[in-house]
Amino acid sequence: MSQPQAIHLSDYLPPAYRVRHTELTFDLDPAATRVKARLHLERHPEREAGAALELDGEQLTLESVAIDGQSLGADEYQLTEQGLRIEGVPSHFQLDTEVTIAPEANTALEGLYQSGGMFCTQCEAEGFRRITFYPDRPDVMATFSTTVIGQAEREPVLLSNGNPVERGELPNGRHFVTWEDPHPKPCYLFALVAGDLKKVEDRFTTMSGRDVTLQIWVEEENLGKTDHAMASLKRAMRWDEETYGREYDLDLFMIVAVNDFNMGAMENKGLNIFNSAAVLTHPDTATDAAFQRVEGIVAHEYFHNWSGNRVTCRDWFQLSLKEGFTVFRDQTFSADVNSAPVKRIQDVSFFRTAQFAEDAGPTAHPVRPDHYIEIGNFYTLTIYEKGAEIVRMLRNLVGWEAFRRGSDLYFARFDGQAVTIEDFVACMAEASGKDLNQFMLWYSQAGTPEIDAHGEYDYARAEYRLVLRQRTPATPGQADKQALHIPLRMGLVGTKSGRDLALTLDGESIGRDGVIHLREEEQEFVFTDLAEAPVPSLARGFSAPVKLNFPYSREDLAFLLANDSDGFNRWDAGQRLALLALDDLIAAHRNGVEKVMDTRVTEAFRTLLRTDTDDKAILAEMLTLPSEAYIAEQQPVVDVDAIHAARQFVKQSLAGTLRDDFLAVYQTNVDAAPYAPEPEQIAARSLKNVALSYLMSIEDETAVSLAQRQFEAEHNMTDVRHALTLLTHSSRDDLADPALKTFGQKWAHDPLVMDQWFSIQVSRPQDDALERARFLMEHEAFSLTNPNKVRALIGAFAQNRVNFHRLDGEGYKLLANAVIELNRLNPEIAARLLTPLTRWRRFDETRQDLMKAELERIQAEDLSPNVYEVIEKALA
Ligand code: PHE
Ligand code: ZN
Repeated sequence: MSQPQAIHLSDYLPPAYRVRHTELTFDLDPAATRVKARLHLERHPEREAGAALELDGEQLTLESVAIDGQSLGADEYQLTEQGLRIEGVPSHFQLDTEVTIAPEANTALEGLYQSGGMFCTQCEAEGFRRITFYPDRPDVMATFSTTVIGQAEREPVLLSNGNPVERGELPNGRHFVTWEDPHPKPCYLFALVAGDLKKVEDRFTTMSGRDVTLQIWVEEENLGKTDHAMASLKRAMRWDEETYGREYDLDLFMIVAVNDFNMGAMENKGLNIFNSAAVLTHPDTATDAAFQRVEGIVAHEYFHNWSGNRVTCRDWFQLSLKEGFTVFRDQTFSADVNSAPVKRIQDVSFFRTAQFAEDAGPTAHPVRPDHYIEIGNFYTLTIYEKGAEIVRMLRNLVGWEAFRRGSDLYFARFDGQAVTIEDFVACMAEASGKDLNQFMLWYSQAGTPEIDAHGEYDYARAEYRLVLRQRTPATPGQADKQALHIPLRMGLVGTKSGRDLALTLDGESIGRDGVIHLREEEQEFVFTDLAEAPVPSLARGFSAPVKLNFPYSREDLAFLLANDSDGFNRWDAGQRLALLALDDLIAAHRNGVEKVMDTRVTEAFRTLLRTDTDDKAILAEMLTLPSEAYIAEQQPVVDVDAIHAARQFVKQSLAGTLRDDFLAVYQTNVDAAPYAPEPEQIAARSLKNVALSYLMSIEDETAVSLAQRQFEAEHNMTDVRHALTLLTHSSRDDLADPALKTFGQKWAHDPLVMDQWFSIQVSRPQDDALERARFLMEHEAFSLTNPNKVRALIGAFAQNRVNFHRLDGEGYKLLANAVIELNRLNPEIAARLLTPLTRWRRFDETRQDLMKAELERIQAEDLSPNVYEVIEKALA
């Protein structure tokens, strides 16, 4: 294979030809589907006359080409591995092509493929070129008319974008449906689904009184698992009307669940295609977390109808234009319909663990990258989640009202167009009158900014001097960084009153919970008229995606944990306190010294456990220790064993000292009401289950019997799965094995539950996790061609820190072997699976060598562009 080439943002040119209208006919067949395409093309006004027509196309068998009805001979076009080139075309013409493709052989799950018995498509980012020859780029937007022909018995349901306009019978048991999508769209939003599907239907009346039919299409056995997705969809539709003034624009909105899918879901116009894991729920099979994830993803894809579809990206460098904005929208939606602080805590915990690690590793890239080899590698936490954090900062910078005006302006001005991140930010600047030039650096500069802060209270002058210093570490290709515009929400909590003090900065009041703007490398903020000494509460709500260091004493942190008015920062103070204690214990473990528990942490927990609170969800978060992955993020060299031992020690000593308190919390939160995925119930369950985790960490008889009872009660999957996890992760195989067996037999028929069964086993801390992973890879419910299975088993094993990082290197080898196989089958999944190995520089020398050796072993293979790009960066 020739060495893949990078594509650069600076090379952007509009397409030579635009497509006004696209007519497609699919004659479906697993081995040889025929695709006829008629494109109505015209020269782009900004491009020169006589430019060659270049169409993307991969893995297509070309049957015929014609221009304006005249068929072309083989010497009249050039066909390469990448596409089709025709010279001397007129400035306005009609192109007809016919190709054959083989959906049944498509294991990459891009383009048209088969999942179970059905046909489905995935076109974002560049899958459409595996369906037909086309200018496969988001700035070519056309209306589509699609005819799908299938076997009436095998594919009774034939779906595509827009509205069905015609259907009929054909000879030989075949039938067809023609769909018309009146909204011009790029081909990455094209979709087709055909198969034996059943639907659940509902209605929604939009704000202007239009009636929309809502359908969720599933395999028959999943008909009972769509209620929550449907309810979530309706909530999201209403919310987008009320919050952003966005109304749905077709008469029909469809969701289809498929079992084989690379990502979570896809926002194809009028026909969203979902990974079944991102749409199907039932109290018996899905956990609270899954219910909430489904709600968030359904909303996310729906919100794309405006932020992504009506206004789309000019090129793939602008991916965060639609993803960052849409993630921000779905996060705020979930916060509004659930508990806002808890949603924020969960999003930030994940972000600070996974995105920070990405930003600090060899694949770090700006939110708007300036080059890539394979765009499929750029559906990252940086583009999505950091992109959302930037939009959140924008909202905080200009305020909600100006932000909403900016959003209205953006949708009005660019409706039906493919635009850039600058276009979006310019609307915000225009609507608010704010200068956002320096702010734009957030999009082009990679890496996580670190802020070193310190402060001093001057009794005599009643002033607090806060000094902030920012620095962004070098990232690959970006050695020097400039100072960013960082808006930070903060408060000063009075040490006497425990209250937020009024903030006066340069003689001006900024409220008690105000925003300060750090723009220089170093800046001093002097707050005046402060009658008491404060403890600062900085970057409230994680108001900027930065690492903020402040020399808090443990007393300061205990104070904030008790008094901060910002729920997020109260939680964060607890995390910081725990991290300080964990640090000492990690050092003790490494030095072979006896571990001693920090009593301040114990006392803080005791207080938490004994305070009567109605916010159980926050309490559950507060009682949760930082994850091993997050602790690792804080260490200069990651010592997986010391981290595991230290965290386990804290858990066990808390459980030992506060056993009765945990027990009381468990018992008051046991719930007999019928399951509902509602905030209050979810909160109580998570609190109860956190308590049970502590109790099970010491494995006394009470805890064991509680866990067993909870498992056997089969009240709902949240409780069952939690209990099964605790039993499986205990030191006793006599608890683990029978429970796993019961569960595995009961759910053998349900692939999504079996995924959970795989994950629980391969993430156990006992040292047989690797052998179990190997063994399970032979299980009949496992398959390397199904991305959910790969993630549930191999992906989950790679998150099992002590076992993946075994010193014999067998964990790394298992992952590398899977990557090598998947490189052939599904390059996108292969490249993603590789991530943990790319972090090799973070570990001790022995592990570095072992990990690097596996990366080199992969490098020696004939690599897909996806894996090639990741390996190159990892080894650079
Ligand atoms: N655009 C999809 C989403 O956010 C993600 C996706 C990308 C799905 C590429 C499939 C392929 O919401
Ligand atoms: Zn998205």
